[in-house]
Amino acid sequence: MTDINFDGRVAIVTGAGGGLGRTYALDLAARGAQVVVNDLGGSVDGKGGSDAAAQKVVDEIKAKGGEAVASYDSVSTPEGGASIVKTAVDAFGKVDVVINNAGILRDKSFLKLEWPDLDAVLDVHLKGAFYVSQPAFAVMKENGYGRFVFTASNATFGNFGQTNYSAAKMGLIGLSNTIAVEGARAGILSNVIMPVAKTRMTEELLGAFADVLDPEFVTPMVTYLSSEACTTTHGAYSAAGGRYAKVFTGLAPGWFAGKDASVVAEDVAAHIAEIEKEDGYIVPQSTTDEIMALAGLFN
Ligand SMILES: NC(=O)c1ccc[n+]([C@@H]2O[C@H](COP(=O)([O-])OP(=O)(O)OC[C@H]3O[C@@H](n4cnc5c(N)ncnc54)[C@H](O)[C@@H]3O)[C@@H](O)[C@H]2O)c1
Repeated sequence: MTDINFDGRVAIVTGAGGGLGRTYALDLAARGAQVVVNDLGGSVDGKGGSDAAAQKVVDEIKAKGGEAVASYDSVSTPEGGASIVKTAVDAFGKVDVVINNAGILRDKSFLKLEWPDLDAVLDVHLKGAFYVSQPAFAVMKENGYGRFVFTASNATFGNFGQTNYSAAKMGLIGLSNTIAVEGARAGILSNVIMPVAKTRMTEELLGAFADVLDPEFVTPMVTYLSSEACTTTHGAYSAAGGRYAKVFTGLAPGWFAGKDASVVAEDVAAHIAEIEKEDGYIVPQSTTDEIMALAGLFN
């Protein structure tokens, strides 16, 4: 078994003052990483704030002989993101790993959704990941090494009352895929975790089932994706209760009308079963893969 350690590596974990982020920060620190424990310390719906959450995890890491500094900035502004990365560079000289984990919920059925609840969720999950990752990417590119983990959710499959959250989480998959493409030549890998775990965010939603979904089951996948041992990029992985599985967007062969065909809606209706067929799909690793597949039809 490969021994995974983070000696000489610097990691930022956002939203690491509790829940899943705390377990990531503790595991990376136990494996030798110098960790920036970022957390705004607010409520599940993103209100309020306190230094206590991040500081407590830093204290926990230090008590076990690890190295960590606290960051109390919000990921949801460009200044906050820049400051989180600056904290890592000032304290430890660089950034090797960013785990974008900070998150909030403002669940409402679609017609009841109010714009402040859309803005708050997009700002923390989606824009926050941009604000932290862009300055970190600059440092990683300079050093020729980096690991990003973005946090999506099974809400991307569709979940009642989570239009804002599922849209933000789906956006993170696109962000990670493009960072994977842009980072490839600089030794930067980017992947997505889709956790299911008992935390303050989910224990009411999951009910009794929550008890088998310890956050500690998600941590090994995130630690792997954050490590030098990681061989994958452009991926998304569900991790829950000891089950780890790839989640992907596939492109099926579909129906091709022919080179010089003219197509009307009735033709689509007539071929919908063929268009819907999922057999023989590819998993495009970039836009180019779809263009190449299309070009093949016209040869
Ligand atoms: N628990 C699950 O089953 C589950 C499922 C899918 C996705 N997720 C995602 O996993 C991540 C972690 O969630 P969790 O379940 O551990 O919940 P959690 O509420 O315990 O953790 C989220 C943390 O993010 C922090 N945070 C919120 N806004 C912030 C901001 N602007 N800046 C910095 N920190 C901020 C919070 O203070 C909190 O400590 C979230 O992105 C969540 O959407 C969790």
